[in-house]
Amino acid sequence: MSLLRVAGLSKSFGGLKAVDDVSFDLEAGQLLALLGPNGAGKSTCFNMVNGQLPPSSGSIRLDGQELVGMRPRDIWRLGVGRTFQIAATFNSMTVIENVQMALVSRERKTFGLWKPAGSRYADEALALLDQVGMAADANRACGVLAYGDVKRVELAIALANRPRLLLMDEPTAGMAPKERNELMALTKRLVTEHKIGVLFTEHSMDVVFAYADRLIVLARGKLIAEGDADTIRNDPRVQEVYFGTGKTFQPHAPLHEAAGGHQGQGALQ
Ligand SMILES: Nc1ncnc2c1ncn2[C@@H]1O[C@H](COP(=O)(O)OP(=O)(O)OP(=O)(O)O)[C@@H](O)[C@H]1O
Ligand SMILES: [Mg+2]
Repeated sequence: MSLLRVAGLSKSFGGLKAVDDVSFDLEAGQLLALLGPNGAGKSTCFNMVNGQLPPSSGSIRLDGQELVGMRPRDIWRLGVGRTFQIAATFNSMTVIENVQMALVSRERKTFGLWKPAGSRYADEALALLDQVGMAADANRACGVLAYGDVKRVELAIALANRPRLLLMDEPTAGMAPKERNELMALTKRLVTEHKIGVLFTEHSMDVVFAYADRLIVLARGKLIAEGDADTIRNDPRVQEVYFGTGKTFQPHAPLHEAAGGHQGQGALQ
């Protein structure tokens, strides 16, 4: 059974079909990239999977369990996590306190009752920080960390909830190529080890082609292609959506830059 099975998923806003009969599967331990030009429906898909937005129709199953109709918090309790959504208090706490707080939240499965974590979960928090290469920085204030290190702590926080499925919206936005590759290599290693499925959007093609196990492409709400990097790179419909006919993918350049000068297709996300 697939970890995530999306079937016939649709969402209309008034007369606009933002997501139109989309179906795909995601297996545990896999990274699935969700691509498409601006307005393709990527965020709308994400928001339906995490329960923020009710679908107009369709089904979203996690290990066979229907998520449609459930509240976001209940979906989170089942192990659907999001990275890069950090608490407002993040900067005022140390690295280890942030991870401890996430562990306490996992225990209570409610953010409303949070009290200072104190020394609870210190060992487990340190073990998580070790996995993301941040154990030596455990007692530093998060407010002083470099951007790439914040991303590592965010990953530790996401893992604290023992997610089965992680939703990552542009995980490497704003990062330099070297940091970007390090973060994705780390993510790939951790999700493989923990058998977590990852659904991510990403505008940088080097990341997508290097790290995604499979890719799906949306255009105007419809799924127009799916497959591995080679399949997607060579798909004429995908090339047409991004570049107009006759153009080919440039896998080592961020697509929105590669597409510079072409009108109307927008940046890839
Ligand atoms: N709450 C809303 N109400 C009305 N229309 C919406 C709403 N949210 C999204 N849309 C529309 O639905 C379509 C899909 O939007 P969505 O944000 O899912 O695209 P996206 O693929 O994430 O785009 P981007 O790459 O720009 O982030 C767009 O036309 C958008 O304007
Ligand atoms: Mg979006």
